[in-house]
Amino acid sequence: MAIETRSLSDALGAEILGVDLAGPLDDETIAEFRQLWLQHCILLFRNVVWSPAQHVAFTRRFGALHIMPGIGHDVPTNHPDHPEIMVVSNIKRNGTPIGLRRAGWGWHSDGEDKKLPNMGSLLHALKVPPDQGDTSFANTYKAYEALPQEVRDRIDGRRGRFSRAERHSVNYPNLPPLTNAEERDRPDVWHPITRTHPETGRTALFIGRWAVEIEGIPKDEGEPLIDELTSHAVKPEFTYTHRWRAGDAILWDNRCTQHRAQPFDDETYERHMQRTTLEGGVPYFVTRAGEQIESMAG
Ligand code: SIN
Repeated sequence: MAIETRSLSDALGAEILGVDLAGPLDDETIAEFRQLWLQHCILLFRNVVWSPAQHVAFTRRFGALHIMPGIGHDVPTNHPDHPEIMVVSNIKRNGTPIGLRRAGWGWHSDGEDKKLPNMGSLLHALKVPPDQGDTSFANTYKAYEALPQEVRDRIDGRRGRFSRAERHSVNYPNLPPLTNAEERDRPDVWHPITRTHPETGRTALFIGRWAVEIEGIPKDEGEPLIDELTSHAVKPEFTYTHRWRAGDAILWDNRCTQHRAQPFDDETYERHMQRTTLEGGVPYFVTRAGEQIESMAG
């Protein structure tokens, strides 16, 4: 069947119309979702009423699931009965946080500081504040394609060093510093900062808030270049901001997008989201000559 969609913005995104995710879905429908996902980078599903098990089962149709490690904090990050679900919430029950507060309040793609960054993520809104608590998404294909040719020539095939150890306190000032064991578990990694999407073959800019250095470029030039590229990637013309309704679920492709939870008044309002995360492969960039440049250990 041809699934009906509605565009979310000029930058990226489509809403899926007329399919109930809680009902049975055949392989053909899932294959169509995948094609639409590859085309639009993010897919919105409305009025999703799911048990955590259904959320997990649906995501699994797109690939293997990643279990998020609880790094830099001692609150429970994952659902107590379904570790494949990360809970993003500022809610406390009996004085105990039910999930991770202020997760993703900065532009990133999931797992970009890991050896195997995550392929995709599916965030389901259970409770949202009135008129705030939005999430923004950026299309990093469009960001790459809009770069001047000389900048593309300069960065194509170069790797950047992504460092959890150096950037954790900057990106998560609300969390305790990493322990030595956590630092050991999350060593630095060098990723190609322009990345060939393994399914579409298109090139996306792959740089974010954990990048600290670019190979072959001296620090005094590399750091401003990282700042320039990270700001460029999220220019308004490449982005869409989603105002959540309870029951919305968004599936995004981390290989060609970045996202950011917009800060909100979390002293006053409750926000409760559940996210499943898909395992990804080793990022790479294919040069014009056909050479494949892959990520490497830090
Ligand atoms: C995330 O980065 O996955 C969280 C996004 C959000 O809560 O809006």
